[in-house]
Amino acid sequence: MFSRFSQAIVRAPARNFADGLTTVDLGPPDVDLALAQHAAYCAALARHGCTVIALPADGAHPDSTFVEDTALILPGQGAIITRPGADSRAGEVLAMREVLSACFPELPAITSPGTLDAGDVCEAGHTVFIGISRRTNHEGARQLAEWLSRYGVESRLVDIRHTPGILHLKSGVVALDADRLLCIEALANHEAFADMRVLRVPAGEEYAANGVRVNDVIFVADDVPGTHALLRAAGYTLEPLAMSEFAKMDGGLSCLSLRF
Ligand code: GLY
Repeated sequence: MFSRFSQAIVRAPARNFADGLTTVDLGPPDVDLALAQHAAYCAALARHGCTVIALPADGAHPDSTFVEDTALILPGQGAIITRPGADSRAGEVLAMREVLSACFPELPAITSPGTLDAGDVCEAGHTVFIGISRRTNHEGARQLAEWLSRYGVESRLVDIRHTPGILHLKSGVVALDADRLLCIEALANHEAFADMRVLRVPAGEEYAANGVRVNDVIFVADDVPGTHALLRAAGYTLEPLAMSEFAKMDGGLSCLSLRF
């Protein structure tokens, strides 16, 4: 079982996108190029079956284009608002609550002292992996696990606090199928993934593990040829997309949309 999506919430980057948080040293993003890349991403969502719900750019929150972090949705079942772990992102949840309350009458939230960015939540069929990171703490993970259990969804923790080069769990893991992941080498042998089939991104292409499955295709960065070959050989259809400007701000293909 793998969720199918018919809707995707997105938010274009604001003009002050470069004021957002980043841990990488790739220089400031070109906002016009980021907007073009975002438009191409939205077109790809529409091509693959999603009605795109575009929220207005929000200059008060320079990281708000990474909408996925603010809520977790189990398509057809329920949604929960997160409590982002970075102070500058805390206010992003207000707008998301307003949007989602039209679709989900019951909308619980992660509460203090829990923190959780949904970029740390990787759903693979009936199993959900929750990253413990600089943004998501054990209490946030515990609250989410309790909520997921109401839907019969099992969760497992993956501590990434000492895994170099990734901000969120989904910076380093993509769920390709209910039983198959694409991972960076540093996470490939994690005990939480012991019963999963794991494909490893080739060395030097770590950013490729920041993709996302959207219905029948895998959205993946356009500049990772080794990963493209690996995924195609495994039978996947790819949607390669330019992501250079989002990569500069620690963003990936998954965090640019909230799908349900
Ligand atoms: N720039 C994305 C984040 O730090 O959450």
